[in-house]
Amino acid sequence: MDLDQKLTHVTVLGAAGKMGSGITLLLAQEMARLSLLPENRDRAFRLHAVDLSPEALAGLRKYIHAQAVKAAEKGAVGLREVFAQRDDLVENAEVIDAFVQEVDAIVWPTTELAATRGSQLVFEAVVERIPLKVDLLRQVRELSPEAMFFTNTSSVPIGLLDKEAGLSGNVIGFHFYNPPAVQKLVEVIAAETTTKDVNAAAQELGKRLRKKLIPSADVAGFIGNGHFIRDGLHGLNEAARLARETDWPQAAYMVNRVTQEWLLRPMGIFQLIDYVGIDVFKFIQDVMDRFLEEDLSHATIDRMLELGVAGGQKSDGSQKPGFFSYERGKPVAVYDLERRDYVPLADADWKKAADERLGALPDGFRPWKALLGDPKRGDALAAHFGALEKMDTAGAELACGYVERSRQIGQQLVDSGVAAAADDVNGVLTSGFFHLYGPINDYCKGRTQR
Ligand SMILES: NC(=O)c1ccc[n+]([C@@H]2O[C@H](COP(=O)([O-])OP(=O)(O)OC[C@H]3O[C@@H](n4cnc5c(N)ncnc54)[C@H](O)[C@@H]3O)[C@@H](O)[C@H]2O)c1
Repeated sequence: MDLDQKLTHVTVLGAAGKMGSGITLLLAQEMARLSLLPENRDRAFRLHAVDLSPEALAGLRKYIHAQAVKAAEKGAVGLREVFAQRDDLVENAEVIDAFVQEVDAIVWPTTELAATRGSQLVFEAVVERIPLKVDLLRQVRELSPEAMFFTNTSSVPIGLLDKEAGLSGNVIGFHFYNPPAVQKLVEVIAAETTTKDVNAAAQELGKRLRKKLIPSADVAGFIGNGHFIRDGLHGLNEAARLARETDWPQAAYMVNRVTQEWLLRPMGIFQLIDYVGIDVFKFIQDVMDRFLEEDLSHATIDRMLELGVAGGQKSDGSQKPGFFSYERGKPVAVYDLERRDYVPLADADWKKAADERLGALPDGFRPWKALLGDPKRGDALAAHFGALEKMDTAGAELACGYVERSRQIGQQLVDSGVAAAADDVNGVLTSGFFHLYGPINDYCKGRTQR
């Protein structure tokens, strides 16, 4: 059975979630495109969108409709080709309407697993809890014995899911990045047991969805979280060390600022952990802890969660408080673990003292956003890190220490076989995390060898 045939009957588990809704959108659009081709006139295309509540699924319907309208408006020219044989569709607006109607008709929201019977492709994007994933996968396998399973797990070994859910090798990790409809990267994780056919289908689907596929070995955390969790732990350790000389809010502020501005990243490390969710960070730590011989726990993460501070996003997409609290997406206060409250950043004397302590940024500094579209950014990066090597400020020291640790993490992923090559690690960080440079680089080496 070829991929077109498989795409006639699809299921997404956890379809109303952050990742599930984007995956549903991508698949529904591809299925709608296929269904409109003359050769598929006699085929019915159906996507079962499974989640826990009718309310969440109603929200999903609205989201899919609105996004399909946007995508169709943007791609009206391409759609005209798909509809070339439809004489009744003259205006762009008619073509757009017809496509959106098709997308809407393909998505069948349901809270009942039984409705998914006979699926050919199943995408799993429920919360990162092993027993839940195993239980659902096992049930769906019984309903759809021919299905191939694509799991979006961020950290759970695919071989474990295969064995525990009895999938007989018909499973692969297909790890989209958030948001799936926008992010180009998909990490593809074949277990030792994954069949050739499933692997081939994953490669073909990735191409169809115009994704950049990077393979990762089947080791808990894979490449992306293998780097992110350890990088986050370095930030937490650095902040804990600085907090012994100052206090936690100042230390967290300094490390966050250095990881954003000195490292030229899109956001500081504590903002990134807030964005992902402190609770999600913890889920991934726990899974990696369970499978790897390395202590990846951290007292500060555990303490934040004990105090009920978990970050993540509200249903309207705005940022919930975590290490920072936010207004219009910008940090406005930092959490004080002792006082159990937020300390405002605006005009604070302690913040001025912290900035003085970090010292100046290199001359000619341009932030991440300014360098993002610069074709000569390689030169700018070399000049930036070349200057940091020579600067005797606390900011430069923290930054180069971070660069060194990030490089070690990246190199360890290659040396341990999680990534096939340095380019794969660098590719995951540049395309999945929007870094301007990969962790395996020569930056700051002059400083670390001094
Ligand atoms: N959020 C990210 O940035 C991100 C990135 C890559 C991968 N992932 C992975 O994707 C998966 C989903 O993460 P998310 O952030 O979208 O989580 P989420 O909490 O936003 O969504 C999970 C969805 O699963 C649903 N669900 C829970 N139990 C269910 C059940 N028994 N049957 C059907 N649906 C059920 C929930 O109602 C929810 O809608 C996880 O494995 C996560 O590790 C997340």
